[in-house]
Amino acid sequence: MRILAIETSCDETSCAVVEDGRKVLANVISSQIDLHALTGGVVPEVAAREHVLKMVPVLDECLGAAKCDWADIDAVAVTQGPGLISSLIIGTETANVISYVKNLPLIPVQHISGHIYSNWLERDTEPEFPILILTVSGGHNDLILMKDHFNFETLGETRDDAAGEAFDKVARILGLGYPGGPAISKIAAEGNDKAFKLPEIYLEKGSFDFSFSGLKTAVMYEVKNYIKAHKLKSEEEIPHQFKADLAASFEKTTVETLSEKLKMAAEKFPEIKEIHLAGGVSANRRLREVCTAKIAKMSKPVKFRYPASIPFCTDNAAMVAAAAYYSYKKSPSKFKPKSNIIPTTSFSL
Ligand code: KG4
Ligand code: ZN
Repeated sequence: MRILAIETSCDETSCAVVEDGRKVLANVISSQIDLHALTGGVVPEVAAREHVLKMVPVLDECLGAAKCDWADIDAVAVTQGPGLISSLIIGTETANVISYVKNLPLIPVQHISGHIYSNWLERDTEPEFPILILTVSGGHNDLILMKDHFNFETLGETRDDAAGEAFDKVARILGLGYPGGPAISKIAAEGNDKAFKLPEIYLEKGSFDFSFSGLKTAVMYEVKNYIKAHKLKSEEEIPHQFKADLAASFEKTTVETLSEKLKMAAEKFPEIKEIHLAGGVSANRRLREVCTAKIAKMSKPVKFRYPASIPFCTDNAAMVAAAAYYSYKKSPSKFKPKSNIIPTTSFSL
């Protein structure tokens, strides 16, 4: 079964064609990074206007890259939410029109479930349940126990900032640009991760929730204090090495907190067969390495996966197609041609 999927929940316009949930025939992503770098973050109205401009060209490019005609497509899928409502509308309206004009079943996808299914893409074998999943993105940060397809138990979530949001805000404080994740990792490679003692926040004993706002504030005070102590006129005068040391210490602290919570959950649920990372921050090399090392030391061997390639970590339509395929397989009669999907910001797993 070939599914054409559309993702426009934030600042990437993406279309993909995926066969049977795993084989990616095309995954075209038009990123708005350069546009949002000008404002240091996503302005929803600007993002939506860009989606309008890019939607049809990306769709055309995707069908061309997949070497597909409309006759080769069996269903259309789209991210229904959560996300920026004005961005979601562009994707859902496009999918509605395709479903109507091409008479194709329409499959709505919850965005985080899309990230979760990114670990099915380009795999020879299907992951085995139950799976413990850490989804780490700009907008969400959850620890999930997945017992079967679309059977999710949320063990914990962020009480304030998500990890990716913390990366973005700290990068902004340090004047490193947008998006923060890759920028922080790059400069952190030149820094001493022991230079600053930043707070590792674990909340109440046994809690699987996350909190990164205190860490972000601690970074902000380190910068403010440095500026005051050295009588600098602005952030621009802060030396490169100070930024590198602070970025490295921040990255280490974030990775430590995320990987410790993941390990704690893995120990509490010994029945798990696999552990997955998903979402934009799963692209982080240090997070992958530290999790690999901690999981290898667990008493029971568990398979550890993160998305097969970097474009599957951040927002992309291939993951939406994968989630749509397994959703369709569960109850095919639920999804009808000529459907109309209304986007929503409050769509939980
Ligand atoms: O999943 P995603 O594309 O969007 C949301 O659904 O939110 O995640 C974007 C987030 C951004 O906050 C970005 O800074 C972060 O993923 N990110 C990274 C890396 N690459 C992207 N964070 C840490 N290290 C990276 N290499
Ligand atoms: Zn996302």
